[in-house]
Amino acid sequence: YLELYGQVMNFPELKNDLILRAARGETVERPPVWLMRQAGRYLPEYHEVKGGRDFFETCRDAEIASEITIQPIDHFDGLIDAAIIFSDILVIPQAMGMDVQMIDKVGPRFTDPLRTPEDLKRVNFSADVKKELDWAFKAITLTRTKLNGRVPLLGFCGAPWTLMCYMIEGGGTKIFRFVKEWIFKYPEESKRLLKGITDVAVEFLALQVQAGAQMLQIFESWGGELSADDFEIFSLPYLKEIAERVPLRLKELGLEKVPMTVFAKGSWYALDQLCDSGYDCVSLDWLYRPEDAVKVNKNRVTLQGNLDPCVMYGSRETITKEVERMIKGFGGGKKHYIVNFGHGTHPFMEPEQIRHFLEEVHRVGSL
Ligand code: CP3
Repeated sequence: YLELYGQVMNFPELKNDLILRAARGETVERPPVWLMRQAGRYLPEYHEVKGGRDFFETCRDAEIASEITIQPIDHFDGLIDAAIIFSDILVIPQAMGMDVQMIDKVGPRFTDPLRTPEDLKRVNFSADVKKELDWAFKAITLTRTKLNGRVPLLGFCGAPWTLMCYMIEGGGTKIFRFVKEWIFKYPEESKRLLKGITDVAVEFLALQVQAGAQMLQIFESWGGELSADDFEIFSLPYLKEIAERVPLRLKELGLEKVPMTVFAKGSWYALDQLCDSGYDCVSLDWLYRPEDAVKVNKNRVTLQGNLDPCVMYGSRETITKEVERMIKGFGGGKKHYIVNFGHGTHPFMEPEQIRHFLEEVHRVGSL
């Protein structure tokens, strides 16, 4: 695969292009389905392969990352319509020179978070994306080859505001004390950082497509921490810039554009703006009533989502009822719709509950 990498690659022919057709706004026979965090700790085979290895080490090993990426496709054979490359949003801060560790049962930890604008000196704004994230492109090329055209491979990255949160807070937080101090005390320096992350994100996404990614998703996981007005200042402009520049960069590289999805968790107030932000798909969390989102959208984009993942802790009957409610709410799902959860799977979920969910999505979505 190393010989293929970097050249014009002849990947195996795609057998299931349902998600790509749905993303382009075509009428489909049933809505495609995939799950955020579909690869990971709820699958026993994930633990078998990962063992005691460091999380980022598994991402950087193309053989292991590709195996973990394909695990949910194999596990639920035929029921999932896309694979998402096994990696993390925090690889952009790493490429920009920051040290991040993944601590077991705690989450990500930055060794030296950015606490004042002085610290921007430590950020590499002209990171060599091709070189720093070379491992990610190799993993994508190998995974696309190994998938053998079964389903499309999705690439992704973190959105600038969400990555800025991690780079400044240094890990998870409930109150966002430090990053909020930045936007309210140092708005211009905040914008400089957001712009720098945007530049890296554009290149990273375009090179993921060059390596074999067939669709892209941008995760603005902390969108809902911003007020509606601040979202317009510190998130939306950069999301739009990414949507505008990735296709231009792909053209420069001699590549066709691919569908792009934006997921701004918690930013319900921005749905109308997100439908006009240049993305093909807008992913929704469970705060939206599907019917309301459909009305706001007015067929501008394909909507994705939005079941509360915790429904998986309910009974089979509850899962069935919720799937019926959701798909009906999205107008039956044959147009402008991709089924997903409103956020990622949890490590405690039972794979058999998820299988029931997927089977019901196929059944109800085909009616
Ligand atoms: O299956 C997939 O969705 C692909 C892989 C993927 C991971 N992280 C693997 C992962 C994707 C798309 C992400 C994105 C990601 N990472 C986001 C955006 C989506 C979201 O959840 O809002 C965010 C915020 C992160 C940052 C991150 N990575 C956190 C906060 C944590 C720790 C929390 C946790 O769940 O433990 C991670 C670790 C992480 N990323 C794991 C996985 C499978 C768990 C690592 C392990 O095995 O211990």
